[in-house]
Amino acid sequence: MIQLTDVHKAFGSNRVLRGVNLTIPKGTSMVIIGGSGTGKSVALKCVLGLVRPDSGTITVDGLNVEKGDRDAFLAKFGMLFQGGALFDSLPVWQNVAFRLLRGSLKRPKDEAREIAIEKLRRVGLKPDVADKYPAELSGGMQKRVGLARAIAAEPEIIFFDEPTTGLDPIMSGVINELIREIVVEMGATAMTITHDMTSVRAIADNVAMLHDGVIKWTGPVAQMDDSGDPYLDQFIHGRAEGPIEAVR
Ligand SMILES: Nc1ncnc2c1ncn2[C@@H]1O[C@H](COP(=O)(O)OP(=O)(O)OP(=O)(O)O)[C@@H](O)[C@H]1O
Ligand SMILES: [Mg+2]
Repeated sequence: MIQLTDVHKAFGSNRVLRGVNLTIPKGTSMVIIGGSGTGKSVALKCVLGLVRPDSGTITVDGLNVEKGDRDAFLAKFGMLFQGGALFDSLPVWQNVAFRLLRGSLKRPKDEAREIAIEKLRRVGLKPDVADKYPAELSGGMQKRVGLARAIAAEPEIIFFDEPTTGLDPIMSGVINELIREIVVEMGATAMTITHDMTSVRAIADNVAMLHDGVIKWTGPVAQMDDSGDPYLDQFIHGRAEGPIEAVR
């Protein structure tokens, strides 16, 4: 469903992606791990077409990301941004139903609101949250609103950038289960970035570790523990000592 081939991206002299190759089969859940600042969010934004790679190709469902009908392409996606990226001036329900209130996915207003309330329920938020503004919510609640928005239009492909960061352990478990359900029940293809190893084990079919601008290791989650890869081992066990320098 998603294929990155030799993708390079630099910002000035900062060579972030240096030949990334990655394949995500349809209906599977891929989790990207790697140190802070290694380019995980940049890689994800390249797939969405929000950041343009310097070279290499990215295809989604066989189509080149940079060519073709942008609206039709984006209609396939749902995205949870790392920082939430909610619209401060809109009440929660209009944030969740954002895409259902305009463009090709447009629905009548009452229907869009009902869908928003149902999606809020799925992420553990009560209906009274619908009429609040993002600034009136806690950080974890804002995260869940972002997640509700990502799933609102029932996308075929869904991206989660740090879905459990800032959530308590129980709510993290709820969100992990929800992500699993979206993949298993809706048959969606998911790409998730996380530092939370519990989340990796709960939601991944496959794992890829980004380091030094390339995918250092990728494979099924069941093979993660005995990969024999020193970079992956250091990362999953959170060791200060190892090939990855803690200070850069
Ligand atoms: N729009 C941009 N302009 C310039 N540099 C950028 C831009 N976006 C990202 N970078 C740089 O690219 C590098 C990778 O950033 P990215 O956000 O992908 O990291 P990350 O792996 O997602 O880290 P974290 O785990 O902390 O979220 C960083 O050095 C960052 O400063
Ligand atoms: Mg990031």
